[in-house]
Amino acid sequence: MTTGSFPTVRPRRLRGSARLRELVRETRIDPAQLVLPLFVVPGRGKAVDVASMPGVKQWSVDRVVEEASRAFEAGVRAVIVFGIPEAKDARGSHAWRDDGIVQQALGAIARDVPGLVRITDVCLCEYTDHGHCGMVEDGDVANDPTLELLAREAVSHARAGADVVAPSDMMDGRVGAIRRALDDAGFAGVPILSYAVKYASGLYGPFRDAAESTPQFGDRRSYQMDPANGREALRELALDLAEGADMVMVKPAGTNLDVIAAVRAACSVPVAAYQVSGEYAMIKAAAANGWIDEARVVDETLLAIRRAGADLILTYFAIDAAARWR
Ligand code: PBG
Ligand code: ZN
Repeated sequence: MTTGSFPTVRPRRLRGSARLRELVRETRIDPAQLVLPLFVVPGRGKAVDVASMPGVKQWSVDRVVEEASRAFEAGVRAVIVFGIPEAKDARGSHAWRDDGIVQQALGAIARDVPGLVRITDVCLCEYTDHGHCGMVEDGDVANDPTLELLAREAVSHARAGADVVAPSDMMDGRVGAIRRALDDAGFAGVPILSYAVKYASGLYGPFRDAAESTPQFGDRRSYQMDPANGREALRELALDLAEGADMVMVKPAGTNLDVIAAVRAACSVPVAAYQVSGEYAMIKAAAANGWIDEARVVDETLLAIRRAGADLILTYFAIDAAARWR
């Protein structure tokens, strides 16, 4: 703690010039720790605007490498790939096809932008016709039967060249199930970034347009966490670490800075935070109206997430932010 008081102590002394402020800045954005989400769709030559996320597109496999290399050029060093499959069914079986959409995108990115870390989102909601993150039985997502499907998906991603797999489904026990399946398939070296603390959030709305994964009935509250709960985050964290998570994520980021700080204090693995689609859309919409300065607000939100304790940040602003902070 500082001792002394005014007028001996004057905090403004260190704020007097940009040079001084730069010198004493506690937190910075490192482009190498930004992760850009990418949405991949079937077809060729496609770059389809996502209406609720201005600047974000759905890319076909042949064109996703354009966005991936823009990210790399800006200093971003990782992407997380989401796929919209050719066809959906009750079990989401396209999720574990070795020629699936994510699997193809991984090959293209590895070939054309090899310097990027390739993370995949492991979930079934993009692949199921009902839009839920697992198998549905009696009107609810059935936990245990879903584990096997997620494990298959993760192994298929690893086989296709994923550097990291990131399960986002919130089934109990999935980190352990995926770890065992990866090890059995010869991928003991592929790390798991667990969406350990994922809240049932209204801020995922625009993502569900982008990923075409809106639940066709009900909502995700029987598996994603209640936003009212903070302590429960530490319970989820402990379970995922015990099951072998190599990194953990908190999501959404901006509404859960307290949770990021608590998770940071409670574990020693790298902590990621996801600035989600709704956080992106709110900033974009206000900026488009001239109500806020986009770059300034983006940096402020990212710094707050860093200050709370996140190491990695997943954000749709990754390219713009990286260009400013490199
Ligand atoms: C899939 C998944 C979602 C997001 C990441 N992975 C959507 C959801 O759970 O409904 C949300 C990301 C965002 O909003 O940007 N389970
Ligand atoms: Zn899902």
